[in-house]
Amino acid sequence: MNYDQDTESTPGGSTLLEMRGIEKRFPGIVALREVAFEVTAGEVHCLLGQNGAGKSTLIKVLAGVHQPNEGQILLDGKEIGFSNPDEAIKAGIGTMYQELDLVETLTVAENIFLGHEKARAGFSSRKAEHRAAAGLLTRLGHPEILPEMEVGELSAAGQQIVSMARALSRDVRLIIMDEPSAVLDSEEVRNLFDTVRFLTASGVAVIYISHRLEEIRVIGDRITVLKDGTAVASNLLVADTPNAELIKLMTGRSITNVFPALTPVADDAAAVLEVKDLVVAPGNEPISFSVAAGEVLGLAGLVGSGRSEILGAIYGSTKPVSGSVHLDGKKLRPGSTVSAVNAGMGLCPEERKSQALLLDDTLAANFTLASIPRYSLAGFTSGKREYQASMEQITKLELRPADPMREARTLSGGNQQKIVLGRWLSHGCRVLLLDEPTRGVDVGARSEIYTLVSELSRAGIAIIVVSSELEEVLGLSHEVLVVSENRIVHRAPAAQMSEHRILDLVMEGTTL
Ligand SMILES: Nc1ncnc2c1ncn2[C@@H]1O[C@H](COP(=O)(O)OP(=O)(O)OP(=O)(O)O)[C@@H](O)[C@H]1O
Ligand SMILES: [Mg+2]
Repeated sequence: MNYDQDTESTPGGSTLLEMRGIEKRFPGIVALREVAFEVTAGEVHCLLGQNGAGKSTLIKVLAGVHQPNEGQILLDGKEIGFSNPDEAIKAGIGTMYQELDLVETLTVAENIFLGHEKARAGFSSRKAEHRAAAGLLTRLGHPEILPEMEVGELSAAGQQIVSMARALSRDVRLIIMDEPSAVLDSEEVRNLFDTVRFLTASGVAVIYISHRLEEIRVIGDRITVLKDGTAVASNLLVADTPNAELIKLMTGRSITNVFPALTPVADDAAAVLEVKDLVVAPGNEPISFSVAAGEVLGLAGLVGSGRSEILGAIYGSTKPVSGSVHLDGKKLRPGSTVSAVNAGMGLCPEERKSQALLLDDTLAANFTLASIPRYSLAGFTSGKREYQASMEQITKLELRPADPMREARTLSGGNQQKIVLGRWLSHGCRVLLLDEPTRGVDVGARSEIYTLVSELSRAGIAIIVVSSELEEVLGLSHEVLVVSENRIVHRAPAAQMSEHRILDLVMEGTTL
């Protein structure tokens, strides 16, 4: 396998895919309007746009998940149409969806070969599948993910890798990646890019969706920008288009100063959250730290370093082995989220789909989930108050569409993330734990979320932020804790840290 990086892609290759005049309507909304989109063999074509712009809808039309109301799709100049995802797969279009669609109770190998089991004389051959799966995973840089592992046991990043292996297990000519990097750390993103380069060098085209512009710079050839369901710019060359112009195209405005200035923590600020000798899992070292009123503490480390597990033990979603957590001096019951929430703690989890959202409920219901008592009078939920409170959050978070009665399921990925955050804001908590708060969130809303975090800190809330984007940890936090292999290896003011320094500390803390 050759993973050489000097594969200068040639946007001048032959046109592989063309979408013309695509229109897609959902009840009450036109998600795509006369969209034209073309992809050349061997290129990485980036699809950019704010949350809700229509990126996922466009690729789902291409992948046979949605049927367009108007328009044509041409592959090699021939008109095609897929009435279901299987037809698209057979035509050589592989898709990694934004909301992973793996079957959690099946093994890695079963997921990879689901629907096209390796058959020999009518029997699916488990051994052949396992061998092929192991080969793919090794090629993707993850030999530690074994074919017989159950997918539900893997981290979000691990599942993303399996989803990638599945897309590659068939003959593909075009691979669609809808925000693949949202759950990956920098090392894994590098692995992903190696694979992308390997694919494009052999003529496979890649459609790449991401909100991280620095990734587009590294991997992209051309860019198409969607705004409110319309392609506002097509086939821009990455090299010729500065970030400021892309942001302007996506948002219609210029955004500067991404991270708002933090108000310094008062010297006499009381410790709101105290973690004392907490042993998160058997064999781990005890950890202790505290967060003062108005302080933002960032947890930096690689995916799998134990950051989310620490948050889980603090919040009580997992029961620690020993040690204690105190909020305003009061000891919380270990392993009890009820105790934590009642004392004033809130958590925005990493995996919003399974842990945080009521997908079938309205936005209003989701917003008030954490604070039902406030909106109910003698047991009845007050619809009007709920509506008003939700509308406030919707405006604050720039949620689109701005309709409290809409089902959470029908919102775009980034807008769903904003609901999770909005819920705790309306709850009014003392301690807020944020796990990857801007995952899948666009540049505009991202700066809104950063502003919210700094406002909350100014209001005296103690905040812990976990993020795989080191820039974000550094930009948002007063102090940074570096976590490596379930241990805290360093604590320092963010102003004295850099991305390099954090990575060095992480590596020093790794016992290889
Ligand atoms: N199944 C559906 N039913 C109704 N509306 C939908 C459905 N799927 C998407 N939409 C709407 O279509 C619009 C485009 O959504 P889409 O998911 O394509 O956005 P996106 O660009 O992928 O955003 P993000 O960056 O947040 O993932 C949004 O307004 C969304 O609410
Ligand atoms: Mg999307």
